[in-house]
Parts: sequence; C-alpha cells; structure tokens
Amino acid sequence: SAVELGPYRHFMQKEIFEQPRAIADTLPVAEAFTPAHFGAQAEQVFEGIDSLLILACGTSYYAGLTAKYWFESMVALPTQVEIASEYRYRDSVPNPNSLVVVISQSGETADTLAALKHAQALGHTRTLAICNVATSAMVRQTALAFLTHAGTEIGVASTKAFTTQLVALFMLAVTLGKLRGRIAAHTEEIYLKQLRHLPVALNHVLALEPQIIAWADQFASKENALFLGRGLHYPIALEGALKLKEISYIHAEAYPAGELKHGPLALVTRAMPVVTVAPNDALLEKLKSNMQEVRARGGELYVFADADTRIVNGEGLHVIRLPEHYGWLSPILHVIPLQLLAYHTACARGTDVDKPRNLAKSVTVE
Ligand code: AGP
Repeated sequence: SAVELGPYRHFMQKEIFEQPRAIADTLPVAEAFTPAHFGAQAEQVFEGIDSLLILACGTSYYAGLTAKYWFESMVALPTQVEIASEYRYRDSVPNPNSLVVVISQSGETADTLAALKHAQALGHTRTLAICNVATSAMVRQTALAFLTHAGTEIGVASTKAFTTQLVALFMLAVTLGKLRGRIAAHTEEIYLKQLRHLPVALNHVLALEPQIIAWADQFASKENALFLGRGLHYPIALEGALKLKEISYIHAEAYPAGELKHGPLALVTRAMPVVTVAPNDALLEKLKSNMQEVRARGGELYVFADADTRIVNGEGLHVIRLPEHYGWLSPILHVIPLQLLAYHTACARGTDVDKPRNLAKSVTVE
C-alpha cells in the first residue's frame, strides 16, 4: 500500500534504500567477532574445521561465491560453493570436518533445504544457516544459525537480504580468522570500523541514483547486456546480470573479465552495453586492458569505478564514480549501483518490478 511504500514507487526501491539500516541492524552491538553470534554451540562446532561447503540458490549463492574469496584469503580455509540443486543430485565426497553453510533469505527454498538434508545424510554434522527468517525450516534444521536483520523482503528481486548476508559472511570470516590465529587484534579493529562505517558509505553510493537513472534510460532499449568483474567482484557482476534479467527481461550475462577473449568478445558490437565493476584493487590494471579489448570492438562501456581508479569518461566510455576503494568489503558497495540500474531499467520498460513474470519470491517446490 501507499503507506508502507512511503516515498518509493516499488518495494524493491524501498528495500534498496533500506540497506544502510538493514546492515546496521545485522551488526551486533558488541563484540562483532565472537562465535556466540552464530549459536551457543558455535565454539565447539567451529573447533577443528578444515574447510567450508556453502550451499545456496540464486542471489544467496552469489553471496557465497563472494565469501569464498574472504575465507580463502583472510582465513586460508578451502571453500567450496555449490548450487544447491546440483549438489543434492551428484555424488560428492563428504568431509565431516567441513562446516556446511546454507545461505537463504527465506530459509524455505526447497533445493537448499534438500541439499542441507542431503549433506546431513552423508554425515555432515557441522551446519550453519545464514537466514533472514528466524522461524524457517533451515534455521530449525541446522546446528547453528545467524539471523540477518534485513526485515521482511517483499520484492522478488533480492537486495537487502544479499548485502546483509555478505555482512554475516564477513563476520564469520573474521571470527574464524581470529580463532585460527590468522587475524591480529589491530586488523580486527580496522574490520570493525569498516563494518560500522558501511551504512554511511552505502548512503554515499545510494546518492548516485540520479546518474544511474540517466543510464537506465539508455539501457531500456537494449536487448542484451554483458557484465564484467574480476576476483571478489566477479560474483557482483553475476548478481548485477541476474537482477537485470529478473526484472527488466533484458538478456544479461556476466563474465570474469579475463575470460572475454575466450569467447564472449565475439558478442561485442556497438549495440552491446558492457557494464564493468571497477574497484581500485590489485586487478585494476588487468581490468583496464580488458576494457580496452571491449573498446577496440566498438563496445559501449558503462563503468562503476572507485574514485581513486582515475578511470574517466571518454569516447564509448561512461563512468559513474563510487567513493574510494573499500577493501575487502567493497562488493557490498559495488552491488548497490547494479541493483539501482536493474531497478530503473525495469521501471523505464514498464515491467512489474516487484512481481516479475514467471517468478516466485520463495521457491518452495523443486
Ligand atoms: C534473487 O533476486 C532471486 N529472486 C532468487 O535467485 C533467490 O535469491 C533464490 O531463489 C534464493 O532464495 P532464498 O535466499 O530465499 O533461498
């Protein structure tokens, strides 16, 4: 209803703008990095784990893919991320010392729940749910649970659930890193400051909405789009492409930018917008040469670049500048403009944003 929507046109837009609040609510008031936040038994469950197995679907799967970079780089824990509907039907080699993490907004997604039960049947006992619904089946089925406090998500396209899942996964990474002696006290303090500052940083990114609306008006007439990212931001490119597909019905694909010349470069023409996620990280120079490959074929680049990348507007190169690089938490900032781009492109095309065709909010059947 109009009352619930406040100044927003759709629930999706409202939920995008709720993200600073949702993240602030998801962060514990005190001692962000103690096992107790994951459940009373967490210390025992975490003791002696040697790897992670993350199971999820859709956007929640992309949260897991992002977190893999954190677990492997920050904690040196081998991490496998798998689409739930694939895992449940294949032969896998169970490792009882693996921590199984299911990620789900609803906690009711049939494939993720079945994948969890499949893992348990194979002998996995160390299980954790990262979930937005306290009373859900997944929370009841796992030894441990961390609840995101995104609040009810109504839009079929997940937004605030995703960014709060990332916050939960980052907390898990730092907590495990501490337990394993991988994260020093001063580093922990830096991470905590960065987490606490996220709502403010997010508000700066949300303020880019008018510039993104101008891009969305150009996207509305396109039939295809390519999304590029590298490393930690490759899953963010995947999420951006999924958002655009889901609600605007524009065909979109995401690729790790280094993979371009192995195939997708053949698609690039002037008619192909190429959205690029360009944080100022160690891969920036590599990414810039990938952007050059696109420009050389006449592709139109739409780049979300950190302010300190020095990527500037030019022929066939459109740039929206984010704040300075945000380190390990950068994906949480970079997904915001992609959500807004999908949202405003869908609005410009006049689709049913909150209830896109053929989709359900929670997929409780296989
Ligand atoms: C995201 O925009 C989708 N609608 C969808 O991929 C969703 O993330 C997926 O169905 C998983 O749902 P869950 O998080 O409730 O398990």
